[in-house]
Amino acid sequence: MAGPWVPQPVTTTSSVLLWIALLCLAPAIRSNGPPRAVLTLEPPWFNVLRGDNVTLNCEGFQTPGHDSSEWLHNGSTVHIHQDSYTIPAVNIEDSGEYQCRTEQTALSNSVKLQVSSDWLLLQVERLEFMEGDSMILRCHSWRSKPLHKVTYYHNDQALKYEYKNFDYIVPQVNYTHSGSYYCTGFMGHISHLSATVVITVQGGKLSSVNVVIITLVLAVVIATIAAAALYYYKRHKKPAHTPDEIGRIEVENSMSYSLLKHTDSPEEEASGHSVYQNR
Ligand SMILES: *[C@@H]1O[C@H](CO)[C@@H](O)[C@H](O)[C@H]1NC(C)=O
Ligand SMILES: *[C@@H]1O[C@H](CO)[C@@H](O)[C@H](O)[C@H]1NC(C)=O
Repeated sequence: MAGPWVPQPVTTTSSVLLWIALLCLAPAIRSNGPPRAVLTLEPPWFNVLRGDNVTLNCEGFQTPGHDSSEWLHNGSTVHIHQDSYTIPAVNIEDSGEYQCRTEQTALSNSVKLQVSSDWLLLQVERLEFMEGDSMILRCHSWRSKPLHKVTYYHNDQALKYEYKNFDYIVPQVNYTHSGSYYCTGFMGHISHLSATVVITVQGGKLSSVNVVIITLVLAVVIATIAAAALYYYKRHKKPAHTPDEIGRIEVENSMSYSLLKHTDSPEEEASGHSVYQNR
């Protein structure tokens, strides 16, 4: 009896699935206007010492040799038009926010540069990390003078010591890596201590466990919606098939017919009634 109706609930289910897929994808697809330029630092450290050489690169689909980049420092235009902006020896005033844009792109991400004047600096790419990111700490000396007996500290506890200078690398950070960091080292016979850098690790990246849970929840939601759609569909289509219902519908039709007749011409009231009584 329900045979001929089977293909249509399937179509309903697949259109429900399609809509869910579209709703999930919508935020990813939504992008208007030109793409943003991408501003990166080279070397990647956001914090540097006075006298360091820093290059800012603006990537934005421009034709090579056609330098039309625009640079902003603290919101003011810099008179540089190359897609690569090198500051040979940074000074304190070079600190601040940088942005760039090319002819083909919208304004880039904002990159912060912090220049300080010190003997030693613990360099990091940024102060905020997402769980799962890799993190590199670099104990950097003024003018890259020889540095030895280097120790890295996290929340005042020594992490690692080596005679020769080295970078401290965490391949995958988690929340336990948040906190304050500094390093110590010797330049000649004098021991130096860097300023403290505070790192925050945010639990953002999905762990495999979370992915499994989210997939399960999504599957249950989709199944529920599909089942509801199927139930709704069957409930609204099935009754028309039972013979009793067909009979009742015919009675209702003749009743409305007789009512119509009644209002039209009172003389034919009798014939209308006869149709009803036949049933
Ligand atoms: C830019 O702003 C930073 C602080 O945000 C400041 O230290 C620096 O001197 C400013 N530089 C210029 C050129 O405005
Ligand atoms: C955090 O990462 C360290 C390794 O860097 C690991 O030993 C530790 O178990 C991790 N902690 C959690 C809670 O994932």
